[in-house]
Amino acid sequence: MTVPKKILEEILRYGAMAPSGDNCQPWDFKMDGDSLLIINNESRDRSLFNVSKTASFIACGALIENISIAGKALGYSVEETKLFPDGDSAPVVARINFRKSTKKGIDLFPFLDKRCTNRSPFKGKPLEKTTVNRLKTITKDRGYGELTLREDRATIKKIAKVASINDRLLFTNKRLHDFLFEHIRWTKKEIEETRDGMDINTLGLFPVEKQGFGMLRSWPLVRFMNIFGLSRTLPIRSSMIFKSSSAFGLLQMPGKSPKDFVNGGRALQRIWLTATAEGLSFQPTTGITFLIQRLYMEDGKGLSPSEKKIVEAAETRLKELFPTTRDKAIIMLFRIGKSGPPKAYSLRRKVSIK
Ligand SMILES: Cc1cc2nc3c(=O)[nH]c(=O)nc-3n(C[C@H](O)[C@H](O)[C@H](O)COP(=O)(O)O)c2cc1C
Repeated sequence: MTVPKKILEEILRYGAMAPSGDNCQPWDFKMDGDSLLIINNESRDRSLFNVSKTASFIACGALIENISIAGKALGYSVEETKLFPDGDSAPVVARINFRKSTKKGIDLFPFLDKRCTNRSPFKGKPLEKTTVNRLKTITKDRGYGELTLREDRATIKKIAKVASINDRLLFTNKRLHDFLFEHIRWTKKEIEETRDGMDINTLGLFPVEKQGFGMLRSWPLVRFMNIFGLSRTLPIRSSMIFKSSSAFGLLQMPGKSPKDFVNGGRALQRIWLTATAEGLSFQPTTGITFLIQRLYMEDGKGLSPSEKKIVEAAETRLKELFPTTRDKAIIMLFRIGKSGPPKAYSLRRKVSIK
């Protein structure tokens, strides 16, 4: 059925509050008769992390979950979601049909605009048992997805080290470096004009670090500083922050088709929203898992031989810490814990329906 334009725009405004790699918001919206099409706009995420478009598929999955939650709350439930109706390699990720629902369901709706990425240090306190149970039942209720939580301090320390390897590669690999800095928004004007990318204030930098970070925009300077060990010292900082978490989680799907990544994104969004509802802060620490998947889904393309060795070593260590194999899709490695709110929230582009 047709959803009135104003309501559909409101549903999509909530939908687009979903997370995406570097806040690139890879989705476009189009109407086809009464159906809403979610289209992956490939030009938005050309990052090395977006291995075979999987990061975009995860983001679209989170968007679809938000649409389903917001639709229900605004009186138009999702009747049917068909993933990749034109085939797995076509740009249409989903065709969604709505039906008017008399009974409005609140579900996780109050948390759509509260969910965010928090990159500051957490308090490291153990998680409540009830919280752990709530998080673990999500994948069970869905009937898909595999969530592993690691809560003991020694393991958290080891995972923090593996996850922080990503920050080394961000400063040895020009493509990774350039993509990151192209997506940082430095001024209020830039933040409000683009409404995408990452506001510098969301990066969790301490005031003294902010200025130095600006200098790292220059690739020649980064290369020069690498002679003195820059890329080796940066992970020490992130590892310290990651260690302050109450738990790390790894969400996986049993298969690796585009549909698995979209459904994985839906499960991820429910986990993230539930963590938010439980008063927890959440940060994806998953750059390294995408680079690991790059090794075998794209033959390591874009990584130098020495970078491949670093990523291979990270994969070996990750396998010692989580039950993961190359047959599974890693949707996300993340950390959770209590902390204050982030210094800033990232914006979203205005919704436009073609
Ligand atoms: C697939 C995916 C991968 C991400 N990877 C990381 C990551 O490795 N580190 C990080 O700090 N944030 C990561 N993010 C979070 C995004 O940067 C964040 O969602 C985006 O900037 C929007 O901000 P928000 O989550 O606060 O709304 C990731 C998000 C997605 C969907």
